[in-house]
Amino acid sequence: MSNTMTTIVPGEIPHKDLHQILLSGVAPRPIALVSTISKNGICNLSPYSFYNSFASKPPIIAIGPAISAATGKIKDTYTNIIETGECSINAVTFSMTEQISLASCEYDNTIDEFIKCGLNKQDSILIKAPRVLESPFQMECVFLETKELGREIGGNGNIMLLEVKRIHISDDVIVNGSIDPVKLDLIARMGYDYYCRADAKSIFQVHKPKWNGIGFDNLPEDVLKSEILSGSDLAILAGVKEIPHNTVESKEKALEILSHDDETNQDINLGLIFDSKSNAIRHNGIKKLLKMGFIHEAWSLINR
Ligand SMILES: Cc1cc2nc3c(=O)[nH]c(=O)nc-3n(C[C@H](O)[C@H](O)[C@H](O)COP(=O)(O)O)c2cc1C
Repeated sequence: MSNTMTTIVPGEIPHKDLHQILLSGVAPRPIALVSTISKNGICNLSPYSFYNSFASKPPIIAIGPAISAATGKIKDTYTNIIETGECSINAVTFSMTEQISLASCEYDNTIDEFIKCGLNKQDSILIKAPRVLESPFQMECVFLETKELGREIGGNGNIMLLEVKRIHISDDVIVNGSIDPVKLDLIARMGYDYYCRADAKSIFQVHKPKWNGIGFDNLPEDVLKSEILSGSDLAILAGVKEIPHNTVESKEKALEILSHDDETNQDINLGLIFDSKSNAIRHNGIKKLLKMGFIHEAWSLINR
């Protein structure tokens, strides 16, 4: 990372630039495909990426329909939710991308946007607004309250709090009783025209620490200053509950594992791996063991 940084003062750059800069860094954002009905009975469908879940007991989510910076007009979604007190929120999959982009066009409130973008309606159970048939994760929501975030110029925002009353999940995305994120295949919004896709290549698991780890401040100096071990490597080492005892068995296991690695095997044979002067060789060994998930064995190569 470069040491030079550009600093932005919000009031000092044009709003359209600030908007894209903010959205580039607050990313990726989930996309809510919001279905509402106007008081005249016209269906409306629009994507919103100022969107997230904020509580689960009771389940509360929020969306942020802004006043259009271009026209100064409030979004139909906002008006419909205020007037009818309800909406359905539908997760957006990769296969729906172009259709939700089409649904984001500023059609007026006499136009049914389901018809415009070709997505299909599915009746809701508790509310009048339909759900989106193509979405594998749909919620029926009721309006709680809204907060206006400034009103002096176009582009001002709103936060609308909604309570989730029903969640519908397609059986196609459930594996062993849980939602499989790869099967869900959701997209998210980034800055400018960028989107990203949560597919098998991008999804990974990180297990939450089960205890308070010893922390970086308890790592030995040579490890902390290593040019080979990354911040993530150090965090794994610092995540142990206590510094593991350096047993003969853990050292032997570390050597046994590393002996299968051609490069490290040579260092082991030359007796360099535990040589405190060859930090680079030890750190490489630690890195390899951590990558394979052998945390205690990695610790057995650390001098203390
Ligand atoms: C992926 C995506 C996310 C969007 N997120 C928002 C948002 O969070 N807030 C907003 O005001 N407009 C957002 N928009 C623009 C609205 O979808 C667009 O203004 C739409 O026409 C509003 O429709 P409505 O007036 O029928 O509610 C987004 C557009 C796209 C394509």
